[in-house]
Amino acid sequence: MRGRITIICENTVTIKGGIGEHGFAAFLETERGNYLFDTGHGEGLIGNLLTFDKDPLSIQKIVLSHGHPDHTGGLPNILELLGDVEVYAHPDIFANRFKITEMEGKRKKQFVGIKYRQIYLESLGAKFSFDKKYRELTTDIFLTGEVPRRNFFETGDPRLFAEVNGKLIPDPFPDDQSIIIRSGQGLVLLLGCAHSGAINILEYAIEKTGVDRIFAILGGTHLDFASAAQMDKTIAILHKFNIERVGVSHCTGLRAASRLYAEFGDRFFFGQVGESLEF
Ligand SMILES: [Fe+2]
Ligand SMILES: [Fe+2]
Repeated sequence: MRGRITIICENTVTIKGGIGEHGFAAFLETERGNYLFDTGHGEGLIGNLLTFDKDPLSIQKIVLSHGHPDHTGGLPNILELLGDVEVYAHPDIFANRFKITEMEGKRKKQFVGIKYRQIYLESLGAKFSFDKKYRELTTDIFLTGEVPRRNFFETGDPRLFAEVNGKLIPDPFPDDQSIIIRSGQGLVLLLGCAHSGAINILEYAIEKTGVDRIFAILGGTHLDFASAAQMDKTIAILHKFNIERVGVSHCTGLRAASRLYAEFGDRFFFGQVGESLEF
């Protein structure tokens, strides 16, 4: 499998153009068609696709990494253009989720679930294909489905909660999934926010595909919100895999990205709007 991933929505832009927003979306061009992974927050998606000469009408399927609004916000915009299109996701993308923070002794509870109802998205053309399991998107491209949490150091973001059976609990993110591409140079992992843990995802991708050579990871790693211990262990394990390209974006954050650059040097790149990776 050969192709190219281009970052369409991300928090930052370069001189190449486009607009930045807090969110993530990537356009995947392959020999077997084009796919959209996430949709950003909504403001940048269509304009940025056009800025980088990516034809929105060529999108065969949309894949959602999880339900957060910075990944699902652009759904109505793209659905209005495409009409009927398959949207691959985990059924729990519609969970009620919250971010709870404390500032100067004040507790702030912010809704961070998907902003749209399923019936509304369907009225715009979304044909949801829900599955909790690992599955094939097309030959050599897979979705992880639910990722088993086996590395206990990957504790996730303590500010994020979900409503489960009427109770607020730390968000278990069963819906968090990534794309795995089996390329000639090894696996390419395209991450949304990696709420399942970057190493959990990586190890699961190896287990499911049987390929242990990792060519690249690209996308949000959420490492800026992780503990120092999680960061250290993640980097140590990433070194072991000898990954050729470490491209991070979005919720990786500047501090974590700087650390990864120091660790991986020329193999590191920052996945800003318009950056691309060929495989
Ligand atoms: Fe995100
Ligand atoms: Fe997220």
